[in-house]
Amino acid sequence: MFATMGALGLAPTAQAATREPAFDAPRKSDFTLSGKGAAKVVIVGGGIAGLTSAYELGKAGYECTVLEARDRAGGRNFTVRGGDTTTDLYGNRQTAKFTDGHYMNAGPARIPQWMITLDYCRELDVPIEVFTNINADAYIYNESAGMTSPMRYRTAKADTYGYVSELLAKATDKGALDAELTSDDRERLIEFLKDFGDLGDTLDYTESERRGYSVVPAAAGTPEVRCSNVPTASEVLATGVGRYFSFEFGYDQAMLMFQPVGGMDQIPRAPVRAIGAPKVRTGCAVTKITDTGGGVTVTYTQGGRTHQIDADYCIGALPPNILAKIPHNLGTGVQSALEAITPQSAGKIGLEYRSHWWESDHNIYGGITETDQDVVHIWHPSYGFHGERGVMIGYYNYADTADAYAKLTPKERENRAVTTGVKIYGDKYLTELASSFSQHWRQFSHQEAAWHDTPGGPDDARYKPLNEPSGRVYFAGDWLSYTAAWQHGAFTSARKAVTALNRRVLA
Ligand code: ALA
Repeated sequence: MFATMGALGLAPTAQAATREPAFDAPRKSDFTLSGKGAAKVVIVGGGIAGLTSAYELGKAGYECTVLEARDRAGGRNFTVRGGDTTTDLYGNRQTAKFTDGHYMNAGPARIPQWMITLDYCRELDVPIEVFTNINADAYIYNESAGMTSPMRYRTAKADTYGYVSELLAKATDKGALDAELTSDDRERLIEFLKDFGDLGDTLDYTESERRGYSVVPAAAGTPEVRCSNVPTASEVLATGVGRYFSFEFGYDQAMLMFQPVGGMDQIPRAPVRAIGAPKVRTGCAVTKITDTGGGVTVTYTQGGRTHQIDADYCIGALPPNILAKIPHNLGTGVQSALEAITPQSAGKIGLEYRSHWWESDHNIYGGITETDQDVVHIWHPSYGFHGERGVMIGYYNYADTADAYAKLTPKERENRAVTTGVKIYGDKYLTELASSFSQHWRQFSHQEAAWHDTPGGPDDARYKPLNEPSGRVYFAGDWLSYTAAWQHGAFTSARKAVTALNRRVLA
């Protein structure tokens, strides 16, 4: 009966959500009977949006050239390995010293199950593994609330859920919610809260095995010893730990999450292979985009020399703040739309350690420690468990906090991050450290943003000149999507541009 109601749309069903207007990649057969030929397209920017555009158009035989300013494709999808060198806009030069097989994903690092990023991993044979976004054994450290040592996530959660359940159950029991609830509702709600908060028959939260043990249960003779010192409800509220629990409810951050095996850049590498590496020209910085009426001319420099490429169409797949700096004749509407989208800051530091002490000493395997410190989030690696060495993310921070770290030298960033880490994890945070590498996107040339804020959303009227072709130039990027700061946004935006371009060529 329930299934039938579901089929009729009268009951919730567990179908996958519709992802986007069905995408039909351009196909060779689109052109077979039309007598037309696929066009020549120059794609400005070799990040996910640019590569996807070339990959999808390439399926139908379009002649695509991708111009990428850096010496690698991928854009913000940047996996840092030993030997990688960067120089930021302050002039800080760093060369990563990570050991072979170790890396940090300086940009995107986690993929939800519903995003088409995973469809591309499937299509392009990029193996994936679980990325641990939430870990009951990771820590919470709120120094401003008076914590002098970290709390396990599970302990904080047990106490918060326990007391909130107790208060709600008692209020319900006393009849405080009688106006809202029938007597059956009351009974069911109390039953739920007893279970949810681990309450006793008196509806009190006194303690719970969910908080964890000081001695874990083992063989006969070694019964569990539960953590003592259960705080009061008032003390729990004062710690401020409750603010971290809604994160995992987020549609884009809920477990399970995934990462490519061997680093996030396995994703851009795959379409580069499919497109053909020579068609993705690296070291090519675009200096001018001209719509000539019958085509597009893109001027760029490579190795100090100026070149020009003529094509039928162009896809502008650079970040909007970078695109806005390139001279073009696409009109003031395009320019002011690009300038309305504002670049945002974020930074990360990778800390390579000589041992996996967070696993051996703290029993933490992946997941995130949350703090009220300027490091904000500390990530444990979700690969290479029990390995000899490992790379932690010592900070992942945003906005002013990221900009403040960016102003420091890489060594100062390391010192500041490690000083905080020692307060949470102890001395090994310093003594086991082998090397570090930090990345600040707002201060990184050719990007100058971790992601972008598009005021009013991507469909706001002011972005119309970007959502429609401007003459023969189309635009694509996560910044023109409802999922800015996710590769999904870049993939879907590229598909949208490719669909429109292909329809026009076929018309
Ligand atoms: N998508 C980015 C993240 O998950 C912002 O942190």
